[in-house]
Amino acid sequence: MKKNQIAIDGPAGAGKSTIAKMIAAELGWIYVDTGAMYRAMALYFDRSGTDVNDEAAIDRDVDGAVVELAVENGTQVVRLNGEDVSTTIREQRIGELASWTSRYGSVRAKLTELQRVMAEEQPVIMDGRDIGTTVLPDAGLKIYLTASPSVRAKRRYDELKEKGTPDLDLAAIEQEIIARDEQDMNREISPLRKADDAVEVDTSDMTIEEVVERVTSLYKER
Ligand code: DC
Repeated sequence: MKKNQIAIDGPAGAGKSTIAKMIAAELGWIYVDTGAMYRAMALYFDRSGTDVNDEAAIDRDVDGAVVELAVENGTQVVRLNGEDVSTTIREQRIGELASWTSRYGSVRAKLTELQRVMAEEQPVIMDGRDIGTTVLPDAGLKIYLTASPSVRAKRRYDELKEKGTPDLDLAAIEQEIIARDEQDMNREISPLRKADDAVEVDTSDMTIEEVVERVTSLYKER
């Protein structure tokens, strides 16, 4: 068991990155956002015009992308072939494309390897879909963070509203969330699922502070 690794998995919008960032700050550890790495890969395929329905094309192009995570001035920066793509990868379209291209074995193998190297170099709290099951199977604490689709949709809606996004449709957001869950949970390689030894935390009726408190106390118990 590796005490200096915490794995947080769960569906889109469960609050993984918010919680992981806060706990990383509390412990003085590095936070690794693996979703950002899948998003950067998707952006690469999008820009290079790769046919994302053609696995042979994905396999051929995958090594053209150099994906890096770095902390600069206290914020996490995602680089694609040297360019800071931290903002671009947050587009909804890129999130959806990342969910699609993350099904491919060559993409998963490449990013899993990078993630394992990062975890060997320093204590990490890593979030994603397959961290407890595949990337860090010996993590000292594994959390499976969930919330009902309607709660996740409402959080996303509030976040977008806060940013001033016009024409928001709560029902459509919920449908997108359900479709994304479906795709991430049903792919062949490393689908999203709770690791057998993960603790499930349903955040539907919890505040952020309560979730952080719960995860921190689970960590201290170990
Ligand atoms: O967490 P996110 O929305 O940034 O992730 C985008 C997509 O990337 C997600 O829908 C599935 C994929 N992903 C993955 O397959 N494995 C991970 N460890 C993280 C993300």
